Amino acid sequence: MASRNDVAVSPGAGNVGRDSARVEISGLTKRFLTPAGEVFTALEDVSFTVEPGQFCAVVGPTGCGKSTTLSMVSGLDRPSEGSVTVGGREVDGVADGVSFMFQTDALLPWKTVLGNVLMGPVFRGVPKQQAQASARDWLRRVGLTGFEDRYPHQLSGGMRKRVAMAAALINEPKILIMDEPFGALDVQTKAIMSTELLGLWEQIRPSVIFITHDLDEAVALADRVVVMTSSPGSVKAVFDIDLPRPRGAVQEIRFQPRFIDLQHQIWETLREEVERAYARTAGGTA
Ligand SMILES: Nc1ncnc2c1ncn2[C@@H]1O[C@H](COP(=O)(O)OP(=O)(O)O)[C@@H](O)[C@H]1O
Ligand SMILES: [Mg+2]
Repeated sequence: MASRNDVAVSPGAGNVGRDSARVEISGLTKRFLTPAGEVFTALEDVSFTVEPGQFCAVVGPTGCGKSTTLSMVSGLDRPSEGSVTVGGREVDGVADGVSFMFQTDALLPWKTVLGNVLMGPVFRGVPKQQAQASARDWLRRVGLTGFEDRYPHQLSGGMRKRVAMAAALINEPKILIMDEPFGALDVQTKAIMSTELLGLWEQIRPSVIFITHDLDEAVALADRVVVMTSSPGSVKAVFDIDLPRPRGAVQEIRFQPRFIDLQHQIWETLREEVERAYARTAGGTA
């Protein structure tokens, strides 16, 4: 088992009622109606648990239902069968204490960097001055001091990700849901952002569900890696990642023998699913 007592949880919102941050996905099945009127099963009997404060990565071939799973954890969609509970309560809408990060930035183009980051606390009723101070603090933590008055289009892709990260973390979420958040970045920027995400996560320790198709990224970041089968998605295997924390630079951890060993084991499991998914789409277009 991966240990999660090796990093102290900072005092604050993340520390209150830690069990409220447990995510349990149980027998989750999702069917969609296709435009032709047929039933398409996207997910079939998916079960796994994310313990409070755990960093859980989910990998699987394109189209296996990773984003669909997240939409039910976040309360944006309902299961056809099975359930998702957060802190023992069934999810029935977008819950408090949950923050999101997606591949495309959810920044408002007409608001400044500061304006984007302070939206969360303002919506929660935090007085404006306090929200501003907190937003400045989070922008400092993500290395964007001096960029408060810029607009999103004046930033690089990596900088926009930093803003999105500050906007997600300023709410000190119990649960952080990330769907390929760094998928559109170049390899070097992605590694830098992953390292920074780990550092910030270690400070507030939300439970994380992190979707990625990048196995190296999953192993470098996570306590646990869930491998999904090709469509209809189900859980093929779960791996505990026993690399010590704090992990430090994501670029360097990749050279450790234990990293290579885990990466290899997981790839052996994943390869078959990727090949199956590829064969299906290739067959479909032939
Ligand atoms: N709203 C929807 N209606 C019909 N089919 C959908 C819908 N959302 C997703 N799907 C299908 O479900 C499958 C899984 O999609 P998705 O969860 O986006 O996969 P992943 O994120 O793993 O790439 C895909 O075949 C996709 O086309
Ligand atoms: Mg997806």
